[in-house]
This record gives sequence, structure tokens and C-alpha cells, in this order.
Amino acid sequence: MGFQISGTGSAFPKKVLTNEDLSRMVDTNDEWIMTRVGVSSRHIATEESTADLATEAARKALEEAGVTPAELDLIITATITPDAVCPTVAGTVQQRLGASCPAFDISSACSGFLFALETTNGFFASGKVKKALVIGAERISKILDWEDRSTCVIFGDGAGAAVLTEGNGYLCSELMTAGGDSVIKIPGFGGTSPFSTLEPEKPVIFMEGQETFKFAVNALVDHIVSMCGKLGIEPAALDHIVPHQANIRIIQMAARKLKLPLEKFVTDIETVGNTAAASVPIALDDLNRSGRLQKGDLVAMTAFGGGLSSGGCILRW
Ligand code: UT7
Repeated sequence: MGFQISGTGSAFPKKVLTNEDLSRMVDTNDEWIMTRVGVSSRHIATEESTADLATEAARKALEEAGVTPAELDLIITATITPDAVCPTVAGTVQQRLGASCPAFDISSACSGFLFALETTNGFFASGKVKKALVIGAERISKILDWEDRSTCVIFGDGAGAAVLTEGNGYLCSELMTAGGDSVIKIPGFGGTSPFSTLEPEKPVIFMEGQETFKFAVNALVDHIVSMCGKLGIEPAALDHIVPHQANIRIIQMAARKLKLPLEKFVTDIETVGNTAAASVPIALDDLNRSGRLQKGDLVAMTAFGGGLSSGGCILRW
């Protein structure tokens, strides 16, 4: 048995940071950010934690699915910005919801939600899980260098969640890791050992933008073409594509290469920014709640990012 998605939800911090606000913090302007990235504003956490955002998104997804926390058999959160190394974000969500199932976090940068879905599919296949909550949640603002205009204008905070129940909606999936690549790098906390001889690095996002851009377009296109090939369908048969929201130009270029109209692609980057592992479930919730999604629609989701890593799946809604 596999799964289907029965409910989605998303949550954002209250504070909205506009391009105008950013232009007073670093040497940038609305025109550059809109034309080069496609972001106009993003949400940035003040008092909200990653677990706060994850819990709010989870409650909305559970409500839509009509599933109670007590019924959950598994909670997984994909995140690269947990509030603590321990306890996990998923564990905190479990406690706040009043669930009692196993809960853990996984990390695969912006592709994390796709890796979490595939992991959860394994639990469904083994018959150990009948209802699961999969979340992507980030407070990415805490690992940004707010003096680096090439990264701080791109990202935003938020969370997206999906409730998975038994079904045959997960038709096809792919995961890719090209390990050890430092095109995107976020060094870890250096540590407290008095014996360490390693020089601690600043734990903020470093990104070689143009290298990442090329990888991103190829990953998006290749996953769609390859997954459609496995299902024996043309990309044109897809009703909706939910891509990682990293740059509107990546989505536009992929649409051109796939010869698909841009209308098939969910785009919320303008007011959400790049929310890393939360990006795909937030965009999925946007699509789900927009009324554009019909039962039986074919929905492809793809993500790419640090690792380098990428992933995709095709769902029958
Ligand atoms: O989520 C993980 C995956 N991430 C991605 O997929 C991101 C992929 N990469 C990108 O989206 C783009 O490469 C960026 C948005 C990061 C950068 O856009 P770009 O068009 O590749 O710009 P660039 O790095 O080539 O920089 C062009 C110019 C430079 O100035 P000079 O050297 O030509 O004078 C930069 O210094 O733009 C300048 N620049 C800015 N100017 C105004 C860089 N950031 C800014 C800024 N405001 N915020």
C-alpha cells in the first residue's frame, strides 16, 4: 500500500519584509530583486520558532484531512533550521499536537520534503503506518548573512505540511545526491572542544549563484522528463507542477525547455521567497487551496538545492 495526500497546510511569521525594507539594509533595490529573482516580499520570523510554524501548518493540514493527532502513526519534518539539535522539530510538533507516534527530522536542504515523502512511503509500504504527517519547516533567516546581498534578498521563513493516508496516489519518485559539493554551503556550529584545531566557519549560507542556477534548471527539467518517461506519459499530460521556489527565472526557463505553459507551474515566490525545505509543501498548499486542483489531477513536485541534492515525484490527486 502507498499513500495519497488528504490535507495540506502552511504557516508564516507575522513580519513581512519588503524589497524596499531590504534596500535600507544592503545595497540592493526592488528592480534588481524582482527581475533577477522574482521576490517582492517575504516573511521573516521575529518570535516564531521553526516548531511554531511547523505546528501551525500541521494543524491546518490535519483539519483539512479530518485526521486527529491521536490517529497519526508517524511525523517527519524536513528542515535545515531546527530550533535545537535535540529535541527535534517533529518531536516538538508531536508533543504540542498531543500525538504519540514516532517523530523525527531529516535534512536534505531544499529537497528535504521530497526525501521525507519517499521515506514515509517506505513506512506505508511496510504496512507500519496508515496515517502520517510530513512537514517542511524553516526559520532560514537565522542562517543568513544579512550583509550578503546575494543571499539575504532571496530567502524567507515558513512551513508547509501534508497529511498522508493510505492510497495509491504516489505514482513515481526520484531522489538524487551529488554529495560533498560546496556550491551551496552552510557550515555547522564549530563546537566547544578545547582540543579542536579546526578553524570555525561562520554558520551562514554561501551560494555560488550561477552554478546553482544551472544545476537547478537541469534538475527540474530532467526529473520531470525522466519521471514522465517512467510512467509512459508526456510532460504535457501533467496538470500541475509544484517546483521549489528558488528563482522565478529557473521556473520560466524550465517551462520553456519542457515546452509547457507557465500556468501549469505553481509560483508563489513573489510573496514567499525561497523557504528551502518548506518551499514545495507551501506551494502545494497554495495550489490545493486555490481551487485549481481537481480530484484525479496529475501533480508533479520537484526540488533541488544544497548537497547538492534534488528530487521529484508525481502524484495522482
Ligand atoms: O534554494 C537552493 C537553490 N538555489 C538556487 O537555485 C539559486 C540559483 N541562483 C540564483 O537564483 C541566482 O544566481 C541569484 C539570484 C543568486 C543571483 O542572480 P544572478 O543573476 O546570477 O546574479 P550574479 O550573481 O551573476 O550577479 C550579477 C550582479 C553582480 O554585480 P556585478 O559583478 O555584475 O557588478 C552582483 O554583485 O548583480 C549583483 N548583485 C546584486 N545587485 C543588486 C547580486 N546581488 C544583488 C542584489 N542587488 N541583491
